[in-house]
Amino acid sequence: MRIKLWIGVAAALFMSPLVASAADNLDGKALYDASCASCHGATGEVSKLGKTLKPFPARNLRAIAEHVSRDEFRRIITYGVNGTAMTPKKYSLDALEIEAVIDYIKTFSYTPNIANGKKRFGAVCIKCHGSDGRAQTGMGAKNLVYSKQNFDEIMHTMRYGRPGTLMTSKRHQLNNKDLSDVANYVYSLRYMSNSSNGKKLFASNCTTCHATPRAIKLIGNAAATRVVADLDDRLLDLRIRHGRHVNRAGKHIEKLTSDEVQDLIVYIRNNTK
Ligand code: HEC
Ligand code: HEC
Ligand code: HEC
Repeated sequence: MRIKLWIGVAAALFMSPLVASAADNLDGKALYDASCASCHGATGEVSKLGKTLKPFPARNLRAIAEHVSRDEFRRIITYGVNGTAMTPKKYSLDALEIEAVIDYIKTFSYTPNIANGKKRFGAVCIKCHGSDGRAQTGMGAKNLVYSKQNFDEIMHTMRYGRPGTLMTSKRHQLNNKDLSDVANYVYSLRYMSNSSNGKKLFASNCTTCHATPRAIKLIGNAAATRVVADLDDRLLDLRIRHGRHVNRAGKHIEKLTSDEVQDLIVYIRNNTK
């Protein structure tokens, strides 16, 4: 055991400087300038040539660099995008060179234009997600205001869509600046639930029957084996404001607004963990 461990440590000590120095010696910028800039532009903004490519133009790497993962970059650069001028680069760059190019791309940054994001959201998203992002359109789209996706996940959903749903990839409807701007706009719509308001609402609407959030018992199917934590926000909202609970708790429960229910939910979650 001990001997094996020491061999492992010695190997790690011996190997890591070698690998690090190999990567350090590679000039990501020079590799990018030589292999990518002709289409993606020296600054990551698409070049003149890049704009003319068929069937799809090259894409702005600056606008997405901070929000696309290294894994995704590695996959696209290594294998290319089938049927486009983005050919696989694994024949011209080795694995470490690709890492160095990604390091360089990751230094690109972009300042979003939220006003443009709002405009593009209006053109491309509201027919399903609603002008307020709350998705009361009957299309089965998700409420973006209460979404739990982080910024990078929103970008990913827009880039790839959700296979098998109406949420298709938006990559060919929106260029990368638009995608980044829309993602920022969507993120700015996010409702930040307020647990202390939830506590007040709970005291004035719920404590006559449920002394604490922990005292809430589920009703109906599988009530014996499930707890509040098993329900997602949408289901919990339905169970509080609609149907049989309204009969038990009183009609005033129906009048709670969606935002108030979000506050109640975050308070209940914080106190049933
Ligand atoms: C001959 C032109 C050309 C060269 C050279 C080229 N690309 Fe591309 N690249 C494209 C095109 C065109 C697309 C868009 C493909 C599509 O529509 O999905 C693209 C897409 C990409 C994407 C995906 C962007 C997105 O928004 O999804 C990445 C990442 C990328 N290229 C990185 C690179 C890197 C890194 C290099 C250099 C190692 C490189 N490309 C070299 C033409 C090129
Ligand atoms: C044709 C209808 C339609 C359009 C247009 C549409 N979406 Fe969607 N979107 C959906 C549906 C349906 C879902 C739910 C997919 C599922 O069930 O997982 C969804 C889900 C999402 C999600 C995931 C939310 C979550 O919490 O899981 C995001 C983010 C999103 N859409 C953003 C957008 C943006 C931004 C636009 C405009 C660029 C857009 N969508 C345009 C139908 C649409
Ligand atoms: C007048 C009494 C009353 C009031 C007020 C009341 N509830 Fe209830 N609630 C009940 C009863 C009765 C049940 C059935 C389980 C039980 O007996 O604990 C229940 C069950 C629930 C359930 C589980 C529902 C299900 O479908 O499984 C939730 C969640 C809940 N209450 C949340 C709340 C919240 C949040 C409030 C305040 C906004 C509230 N209740 C106010 C009486 C009340």
